[in-house]
Amino acid sequence: MASVVTPSIDEDIWQDVWDEERAWREENPVQEKVPDPLTFVIFGGTGDLAHRKLVPALYSLTTSKLMPTQFAIVGFGRSDRDNDEYRQGLRESVQASGVRVQDSTWDDFAQRICYVQGRYDDEMSFSALAETLDRIDIESGTENHRVFYLATPPDVYADVVHNLGTAQLNQPSQENGWVKLIVEKPFGRDLATARSLNHCIHEVFDESQVYRIDHYLGKETVQNIFVLRFINGIFEPIWNRNYVDNVQITAAESLGVEGRGGYYEKAGAIRDMMESHLLQLLTLTAMEPPPAFTADKVRDEKVKVLDALEYPDEHHPMRSVVRGQYGRGMADGRMLPGYHDEEGVAPVSRTETYVAAKFFVDNWRWAGVPFYLRTGKRLAKRVSEIAIQFRRAPHMFLPDGKASRPRSNVLVLRIQPDDGMALRMEVKVPGPGMRVRPVDMSFMYKEAFGGASPDAYQRLLLDAMRGDSTLFTRTDEVETAWALMTPMLEAQSNSDDLPMYPAGSWGPAEADALLEQDGHRWRKP
Ligand SMILES: NC(=O)c1ccc[n+]([C@@H]2O[C@H](COP(=O)([O-])OP(=O)(O)OC[C@H]3O[C@@H](n4cnc5c(N)ncnc54)[C@H](OP(=O)(O)O)[C@@H]3O)[C@@H](O)[C@H]2O)c1
Repeated sequence: MASVVTPSIDEDIWQDVWDEERAWREENPVQEKVPDPLTFVIFGGTGDLAHRKLVPALYSLTTSKLMPTQFAIVGFGRSDRDNDEYRQGLRESVQASGVRVQDSTWDDFAQRICYVQGRYDDEMSFSALAETLDRIDIESGTENHRVFYLATPPDVYADVVHNLGTAQLNQPSQENGWVKLIVEKPFGRDLATARSLNHCIHEVFDESQVYRIDHYLGKETVQNIFVLRFINGIFEPIWNRNYVDNVQITAAESLGVEGRGGYYEKAGAIRDMMESHLLQLLTLTAMEPPPAFTADKVRDEKVKVLDALEYPDEHHPMRSVVRGQYGRGMADGRMLPGYHDEEGVAPVSRTETYVAAKFFVDNWRWAGVPFYLRTGKRLAKRVSEIAIQFRRAPHMFLPDGKASRPRSNVLVLRIQPDDGMALRMEVKVPGPGMRVRPVDMSFMYKEAFGGASPDAYQRLLLDAMRGDSTLFTRTDEVETAWALMTPMLEAQSNSDDLPMYPAGSWGPAEADALLEQDGHRWRKP
């Protein structure tokens, strides 16, 4: 009689996994499909984002052999620069961003870069840009494939989009050409301005050409939420109101506004972080499994979560929202400035640098489970994470004095720094008796895969160039998110409530009270 062999997770299986991966890598030295030949145009090409993120990402993609053989980069701005100055400035900032620059690779890369000086509201400047792009197509074989990246302050977006249309740069002029538009966040200031920007874009571009970026979606740990939830069999059965007690999503920064006070004064924590990054993390945590990992199927599920999101008291949104602003404080024996001391900040500014809020996802899976979101500047630590707190075991059978109730198990998805995850559980302390203590079973990307994960912009720029919009937000998604934030923004403009918190702390005491009233506490990551 044939014996039945039960597979088990043992060394042989791991060996198989590694062997398979090695073989796959050998057969697929370039793991991703390389985009078509193209020209990448950056409006706001002289700015911080272009220098610190976009060009370093394009350079890293080039050195990883993920760019096509034929490509060009055009920086567009009002400032006066010649090509050499522009290239030199970019080289310095790519180096400063921590990317290793090699002379030979850089020289080839730099030859593909040029700078076009112009005004964003000037038709003639766009005609000149069109001529430059046509010339590049002929000289560099970029085949009428163009990516336009809006990296200016948002109030310039409408002018650029309008003038791209006027110069007929919104559509390819040749049969196999294509045109894509990447739009940086923030996408609007509220529902009305987001709608108006969508309207303005749709007058010129088709939605299928538009890529609204939220760089959190380019982070490995954020994409890993899909894999963790929908490829592993063990989590999904308990990923619901029957087992989850509450969810805490934190995006804490230890820095202040770092010279960007002018921008921050107009934004604040709700617009800058909550409407975009935090809501994105929430939707990925709460969404249903999509039938396939395609742009529309994933985004359909995310929109359903946003549609189901509610304030605990819809008539009084601020009852479950706490705003705050940092004052002076101490950290590591150092005096930290208050928000009012920062450059570009009005001495009487009422802009919030911290916000915490509680929401419910009002659907079958999540009814009654609070989702707590918080973000702030000058907090005790730089950390972004999603913590799923599971319900406690119902009964403590050990006579342990301290742990009169079992503690919750917590699954933490750490987005930054040290991206990875950890499952907190109770174990027996070695020795006599039956004392228990929490420990973390953890996984870190850099340990498991060797080295740091690529920057989020690399993944997102590559996806956009290849025409994959799964990790970009759709019109209805961005408008539904703003529809949720708008009552909060309106209510806050009529509220004087803006508690101060010391720089270097975990935010205002009122935010602790928000959870205490539910019998919960914020994690101290
Ligand atoms: N920096 C970041 O880390 C970051 C992160 C996430 C999102 N973003 C978003 O990305 C976009 C660009 O950010 P950034 O930090 O690079 O901005 P920035 O450095 O302030 O501005 C980018 C460029 O836009 C032009 N510009 C600045 N102010 C202008 C004005 N009032 N009118 C017309 N042009 C102006 C300037 O170029 P010229 O004067 O040469 O034309 C400037 O170099 C913004 O929407 C921002 O919210 C930035």
